[in-house]
Amino acid sequence: MSTDLEEIKATLKKYGQEHLLNHYETLDDAHKQKLLEEIKSIDFELIDSLYRNAEKTQNNEGDVITPIDYLDKYKLNDQYKYYQDIGKKAIKEGKLAVVTMAGGQGTRLGHNGPKGTYDIGLDSHKSLFELLCDGIKEEAKKYDVTIPWFIMTSRENNKETVEFFEKHKYFGYQKDKNLFFFIQGELPMVDTEGKILVGEDGLIKLAADGHGGIYESLVKTGMTKKMKEIGVDWVFIGGVDNCLVKMVDPVLMGIAIDKKVTVACKSVVKANPQEKVGVFCKRNGKPNVIEYTEITEEMAEQRDENGELLYGESHILCNLFSVEAIERMGAEPLPYHVAFKKASYIDKDGKIVKPDSPNAYKFEAFLFDAFGEVDEMAVLRVKREEEFAPVKNADSAGVDCPKTAKELYEKFYKLK
Ligand code: UTP
Repeated sequence: MSTDLEEIKATLKKYGQEHLLNHYETLDDAHKQKLLEEIKSIDFELIDSLYRNAEKTQNNEGDVITPIDYLDKYKLNDQYKYYQDIGKKAIKEGKLAVVTMAGGQGTRLGHNGPKGTYDIGLDSHKSLFELLCDGIKEEAKKYDVTIPWFIMTSRENNKETVEFFEKHKYFGYQKDKNLFFFIQGELPMVDTEGKILVGEDGLIKLAADGHGGIYESLVKTGMTKKMKEIGVDWVFIGGVDNCLVKMVDPVLMGIAIDKKVTVACKSVVKANPQEKVGVFCKRNGKPNVIEYTEITEEMAEQRDENGELLYGESHILCNLFSVEAIERMGAEPLPYHVAFKKASYIDKDGKIVKPDSPNAYKFEAFLFDAFGEVDEMAVLRVKREEEFAPVKNADSAGVDCPKTAKELYEKFYKLK
């Protein structure tokens, strides 16, 4: 233990992070041990380089961006039934599982608790988790199967999430049989001087590593192994905050199987060329998503011979992967993006600081950065009003908020 401590001190000195042990002596034994383990698991080289690049804007200037082909679900004609039959067969054979990413902090919504526990104000007062569950079950019934459901949480919200499910009897699911929780990875937050923050508990201030952490987490926590054990070949991965998400979609699955691609994504057409959404594209010949901050006005306005936007297919976090693709994507580290956030911490004098404005860098990987791992993927345009009702902001924002999501949900299910 003491040699351990000496080694750790040397590492901290090397990286100018000695302050991490400032409050070590005030911790109880369990926390002391935990802190040392956390420090040992930090990749200081990585954190150092992320900090040094934090203020630099990502330079994608040399990238060649071209449009990506897509299919429109409602213009498939005879092919619709053809793909649907292929997908139905695979679903009936138990080849599909779904994953809900629920590890985000939901800062914009500002709900006190995991986002999935949020009640958007329907007469039923169902939470987002229950609405998602209803959606899975409604489809599963058609195929007489139970679709295994995997839920990604963060260390921050895992306990509360699992307790919420327990309180609601897992919405009819069976934990560890067909419902699995797993915790996503984390990275330390650093201040503007490059110092790793110490949290209020005296431990390292860690933050979830973004939805791009999904692949590595699925592999590391043994979930992909579990999927294979239970005969799953395909996994739909979606967010927790789209209450109209259609996770069980035989047409999407049929397309992936028939076209022999390992990734198939749903898109909705951009509401207008200026809408602030990421759109599917090819980057240097590989599938990717171009962010609205990256696309020029001219590109955003470009249309094809049918009048459709060339870059009009919005990425809505509705993506289907083969288990094998997830394993490959989880093996390679993704680039990290930087967000400047408010983070409370303990200063060098042991005082808790709760800042009013952003003070720390958070590093996050984005799920779509892994798309380039495959040469081809399918993009299926679906109808916004059928599949996209995001809950991102508080009602005061007026867009992508509980109020708008509730209206879309009620309209789709003809509740009002
Ligand atoms: P967002 O990027 O919208 O983030 O996540 P968020 O945490 O919900 O909200 P803000 O930005 O703090 O306001 C899209 C989806 O990805 C999940 C979220 O839970 C949501 O379902 N996510 C995001 C994770 O699971 N982990 C992360 O680290 C980030």
